[in-house]
Amino acid sequence: RDEPLVLGIETSCDETGIGIVRGHTLLANTIASSVEQHARFGGVVPEVASRAHLEAMTPTIERALDQAGLRLTDIDAIAVTAGPGLAGALLVGVAAAKAYSLGLGVPLYGVNHLAAHVAVDQLEHGALPKPCIAMLVSGGHSSLLLVPDVAKEVIPLGSTVDDAAGEAFDKVARVLGLPFPGGPHIDRVAGGGSGTAIAFPRGKHDDGTLDFSFSGLKTAVARWVEARERAGETIHVPDVAASFQEAVVDVLTHKALLACREHGVRDLLIGGGVAANSRLRALAQERCDAAGVRLRVPRPGLCTDNGAMVATLGSDLVAAGISPSPLDIPADSSLPI
Ligand code: KG4
Ligand code: ZN
Repeated sequence: RDEPLVLGIETSCDETGIGIVRGHTLLANTIASSVEQHARFGGVVPEVASRAHLEAMTPTIERALDQAGLRLTDIDAIAVTAGPGLAGALLVGVAAAKAYSLGLGVPLYGVNHLAAHVAVDQLEHGALPKPCIAMLVSGGHSSLLLVPDVAKEVIPLGSTVDDAAGEAFDKVARVLGLPFPGGPHIDRVAGGGSGTAIAFPRGKHDDGTLDFSFSGLKTAVARWVEARERAGETIHVPDVAASFQEAVVDVLTHKALLACREHGVRDLLIGGGVAANSRLRALAQERCDAAGVRLRVPRPGLCTDNGAMVATLGSDLVAAGISPSPLDIPADSSLPI
């Protein structure tokens, strides 16, 4: 086939992700995570993440080539997350990508991490409808995007004004004594509780914007738990987890469908680590069905940070005839969409 083999490098946070694709066919997706090194700090420590990327880069690329049954010299283009993300972490990926691009004599494509989260769904569900609405919810971002064409035009519609959705999950998990990262634990524990047990606040639910706010909710949960503890009452953790989770996914799905309605779009994509949340998936499906909107959610392994998403967007950029990036492209921690 004449579509190029693209190797993608992702190092924006704590996962060293390498992906290899041809067009929208996934050939390899390998990952090395430093999440365990951060767990005792309750959050990602940038310097620790950077060093871990440096150590993991070469072995993770070698594993990807093994998985795909390819040699490095088979690769036709290199794509790398240029931002947004942790500056030092991004720098390791961008430096590696430049070295491979120069050494192999193949073009380099610096890509936006958020656009890559959108593009990856095509590996699973085929070409994206143009346009679609994308909601990206992770530990670092919570954004609503209008996507006329993921390779050419992605328009931000709204984002969190304080904490990211995943950050709220992680902070509330900590209050409830659950390990980091807390999202999957809240998801699991909430299964044994009731989402309507406690009426937690839904920040910005009815403000008419497409922005989110989760810090008020996080504080409300912490106050609720503290007050019960002070009174010597026992807390039913599953009810607190389920009620918190319900407040988050209620606002997320409400705003995602508001964005679809306002822009007359009938396809919604949800990505990012929080898209793995079982209640978010269920409520989004329910509300999309009611609104006549088609829902696309990549499988969990493609929702969290990975290299395949970067390779996929790189492949789309090549296909769209976009010029490669110069070899002095910077890592930009606050790269806008
Ligand atoms: O996309 P991701 O791997 O990394 C970035 O933050 O970019 O997302 C990680 C976030 C963490 O905050 C984690 O707690 C959350 O996604 N998460 C979940 C679930 N699985 C991961 N949150 C809620 N429910 C889940 N099942
Ligand atoms: Zn991400």
